[in-house]
Amino acid sequence: MESIDRGALDAYLDGLLPARPAHFAEMERYAAEKSFPVIGPQAGRVLSQFAALVGGRRFFEMGSGFGYSACWLLEGAPGARIICTDTSPENETLARKWLTQGGCWDRVDFRVADALAELKKSEHDYDLIYNDVDKEAYPDVFKLALERLAPGGLLISDNVLWKGRVADRSITDAATCAIREYNRLMFETADVQSVIIPVRDGLGVTRCVSE
Ligand SMILES: C[S@@+](CC[C@H](N)C(=O)[O-])C[C@H]1O[C@@H](n2cnc3c(N)ncnc32)[C@H](O)[C@@H]1O
Repeated sequence: MESIDRGALDAYLDGLLPARPAHFAEMERYAAEKSFPVIGPQAGRVLSQFAALVGGRRFFEMGSGFGYSACWLLEGAPGARIICTDTSPENETLARKWLTQGGCWDRVDFRVADALAELKKSEHDYDLIYNDVDKEAYPDVFKLALERLAPGGLLISDNVLWKGRVADRSITDAATCAIREYNRLMFETADVQSVIIPVRDGLGVTRCVSE
């Protein structure tokens, strides 16, 4: 089988993307400098697209970092509000700066807290839940998020390919096993429809089809 040079393909795809507004570019530069794992512009545009398509107003983000992925979600859905969660207060400070610059901080409720605990105690259902927390928690996130999705709502998780490690059965560390379990749940749980989009490190997209 012809093998694909993933680096060359990514460079090609990145080259197709239009220039981003200054705050996106600054966040990307900061992430590169600090080796902070943001979702990047290819997957960011997928988030933006789904945020637009889901047509809802209430979003919840688990593991917001300094707000880069939230920026993409809010760009796609100008009528939506988002609860962001991250355990780091420094990330909230950075998110406030850049999302203010991007004109969307007034639609953000940033909570410095454990994402699962915040979602569990939330009284609302959400049109879109985006998950990017520590990978060991992914199976718990799946079960919890399904209880908090509105009918037709989307759960999107980053890193479901985990740089290909999910496909290598000799790799059995906790993070890889948890993502494998998450992927199994996506396809074996009733009343949901799931796809994996192999953009960047893989986005798992699950739609709640129950009433
Ligand atoms: C990969 S980074 C997030 C990047 C961000 N989603 C983006 O693409 O711009 C993961 C973040 O999740 C946070 N995190 C990990 N586990 C968490 C948890 N259980 N609750 C809240 N935040 C968590 C970390 O502090 C880190 O900032």
